[in-house]
Amino acid sequence: MAVYQATVSAPVNIACIKYWGKRDTKLILPTNSSLSVTLDQDNLKSTTTSRADPSFDRDRLWLNGHEEEIKDGGRTATCIAEMKRLRREVEEKDPKQPKLSSYPVHICSHNNFPTAAGLASSASGFAALVASLAFLYALPASPSALSLIARQGSGSACRSLFGGFVAWEMGTRADGSDSLAVQVAPREHWPDLHALICVVSDAKKGVASTSGMQRTVETSALLQHRIRTVVPERMAAITEAIHARDFPTFAKITMADSNQFHAVALDTEPPIFYLNDVSRAIIALVVELNRASVAAGGTIKAAYTYDAGPNAVIYAPAANMREIVELIVGYFPQTEKFNDVFGLFSADKPLSGNNLPAGFNPAVSKKFEEGAVKGLIHTRVGDGPRALSSDEALLGADGLPK
Ligand code: DP6
Repeated sequence: MAVYQATVSAPVNIACIKYWGKRDTKLILPTNSSLSVTLDQDNLKSTTTSRADPSFDRDRLWLNGHEEEIKDGGRTATCIAEMKRLRREVEEKDPKQPKLSSYPVHICSHNNFPTAAGLASSASGFAALVASLAFLYALPASPSALSLIARQGSGSACRSLFGGFVAWEMGTRADGSDSLAVQVAPREHWPDLHALICVVSDAKKGVASTSGMQRTVETSALLQHRIRTVVPERMAAITEAIHARDFPTFAKITMADSNQFHAVALDTEPPIFYLNDVSRAIIALVVELNRASVAAGGTIKAAYTYDAGPNAVIYAPAANMREIVELIVGYFPQTEKFNDVFGLFSADKPLSGNNLPAGFNPAVSKKFEEGAVKGLIHTRVGDGPRALSSDEALLGADGLPK
């Protein structure tokens, strides 16, 4: 008996121009366009296996080892139904095709980063779900066409269907058919762009993006200015900066947009705070690093950005990463040894955590206690979803998680 199964991995993306606000909450249509960098799956990824089998009694989903209910009309059910609809189109055109669209599916997904790290997994998770079903169903669909479906799982997921630099064009149609992801540039265009994720410890659970952004849409006057004026200008300017590999401009826009996203969160009634003291200290360090560099006749070295939580993502050219890690480790002593995947620190030049950049004013932040930044993940711009071999499947011969 033929086994119909596919396994893929999909990347995480971190936005430089933030998506925050929906004009349609069911179809997940945003109030502004957004733009992100896809991060390398060698470091962070969701892996998903999907299998269609007529002997299964219903669609089932396992996430990180636990079965999750697929709620009727919910986001996961919508994505599965949309993918089955595309498969049905293939079967109608070519009646010799097996009728996979009528078989229930088992979907098993796993993130290689701990959920406790506080990194959003919905983007890579829904991208992997949609991409695995696309391979399973042998769909002729482009990544942009698939992004229309991943978007209905989680808005930011639509951008994880591509590698490199990705825009989610908000679109104008009511049915959402033009609200999709497009690639601005592949990773190969600017492979030198690296990222340092600073996992900031957070005792309390913050407001979830989905509910937080709707409160902002309903109550923030500042959001209207952002949607109408600020984002359209920034989308054009950052696209140009990416095409020109102009890091200082890219960095300025990225930091300004992170700031404005957190400003509209604060402008929400009741106000939403995602940054904490540690997040703000990292901002102060990056600002001072850039100020000292520019004062010495250099350029902007790093850009911070924050999503709906306290974790910092610092974008920088590869050559600046050693200095940035040194700086962060100096102010935020690490419990665990820095995982030096890119070989920044050699035996003769070990990571000391005491080296401050020339002209850097050490008083911009206090030194924090160990654990304030729980961990550092050094990664870089990466590629889009990858098809994996059957050896890497997460479902066993019986169609259940291995
Ligand atoms: C701050 O995509 O998680 O990370 O569409 O409701 O699932 P839903 O929201 P989600 O929101 C992400 C918000 C953000 C900014 C961004 O990634 O653009």
